[in-house]
Amino acid sequence: MKNSFTIINNRTNESFEFDILDAARGPSVVDISTFYAKTKMFTYDPGFTSTASCISDITFIDGEKGELRYRGIEISELASNNSYLDVCYLLLNSKLPNKEESKDFDLELRHRSFLHEGLKNLFKAFPSNAHPMATLSSAASALSSFYYDHLVIHSEAEYQEMARRIIAKMPTIAAFAYRHSIGAPFIQPDIDKSFTENFLYMLRAYPGGKMHRNANGEDIIREIEIKALDTIFTLHADHEQNASTTTVRTVASTGAHPYVAISAGISALWGRAHGGANESVIAQLEMIGSVENVDKFIARAKDPEDEFRLMGFGHRVYKNFDPRAKALKELQDELKVELNLDSNLMEIANRIEQIALSDEYFISRKLYPNIDFYSGVILTALQIPKSMFTPVFVIGRTVGWITQWIEYKKETKTKISRPRQLYLGK
Ligand code: ACO
Repeated sequence: MKNSFTIINNRTNESFEFDILDAARGPSVVDISTFYAKTKMFTYDPGFTSTASCISDITFIDGEKGELRYRGIEISELASNNSYLDVCYLLLNSKLPNKEESKDFDLELRHRSFLHEGLKNLFKAFPSNAHPMATLSSAASALSSFYYDHLVIHSEAEYQEMARRIIAKMPTIAAFAYRHSIGAPFIQPDIDKSFTENFLYMLRAYPGGKMHRNANGEDIIREIEIKALDTIFTLHADHEQNASTTTVRTVASTGAHPYVAISAGISALWGRAHGGANESVIAQLEMIGSVENVDKFIARAKDPEDEFRLMGFGHRVYKNFDPRAKALKELQDELKVELNLDSNLMEIANRIEQIALSDEYFISRKLYPNIDFYSGVILTALQIPKSMFTPVFVIGRTVGWITQWIEYKKETKTKISRPRQLYLGK
């Protein structure tokens, strides 16, 4: 059997042979990198539905089976047994940390969580009603001016330092962006708090860093809240070549600074078809208002003349179920009582899910709830405001983007990303 793929041009009867490359998991690919040289034609694949843009060994998705793995380990296993920082370490180092490594990594991220004093002035330049995503993307880009050295990286230690720095600072940037948007003073990270607890602390604390205590004298940030948010970060950590990651790799291909590439990824994530959907889901559930109105909105979602889409439904790759959504739904059910989840929103969400999963329109198009459908109800219970839902996604995803950036940079044969077009103009 020949390990190649033959394409025949029926206009000329010429045939062209291309190599088949086998994947460790998932579909093989046809290497068409010589297609133009051989045929003098381009291939056309808008939206890249059939295109593998790179070779990677970071994250694997089987959309038909609803499978997601980071470095070979199933997401459900990681979400149940590991902290988000362990998952960051895994993505960056291809192995889970031992106890010592885990402790060192945690400590290093705590130390790197502070922002340069100069960067703080940037936040003040934004209007007070700025969406935190706009501020976040600009601040990530501005980081490149404070750490310009990362433009050229010489060693593994420098890759790690660059990656750890931006992962550690992203929660602080996000929290500052939020506090600026509500006119509240910034709260500095607390070195005694873990990555995830620190983020909740920087969002919630009163000026001077004071926190309320509940009637029992316990800290207002509960262990269960930290665990829930940590799991949310884990579920968002990476997702192969999605729109924002592809953006990061495209910027990487031009030789730009890594933090500028991350900034571009943040901007790409903001859209409603991508990470911005989590904010839209809750807005939509609130707009629907009560279970009685669900049918009306389902009908609108099915109407080809209506632009209304059910937010949090559908996915380019998952055509069975989104394993991240499954994990979040389980988390939501588990935390229903303890976190006092909004029962009205949950009822509406459950009703939408119930109808959609048995409706021909959704079944035939393989539209299932995605990760964004469930995250909002939990984030609301964690007192995270809607405008911060997508920034939470950014915090979780930063490790994925930077790991993909590093993988790209370590490849020896890279070319600038430069697609062509089918020109139909004059
Ligand atoms: N509600 C109603 N109909 C939908 C929805 C939806 N949420 N999603 C897709 N469809 C329909 C489309 O109208 C289309 O129908 P048609 O074949 O009759 O024209 C069909 O399903 C296929 O939809 P496409 O847009 O071609 O699918 P694609 O794979 O390009 O898009 C996407 C995937 C962008 C996620 C889409 O399903 C969507 O817009 N969903 C809502 C937004 C959302 O939840 N985004 C978050 C995705 S997860 C993430 O990025 C973290």
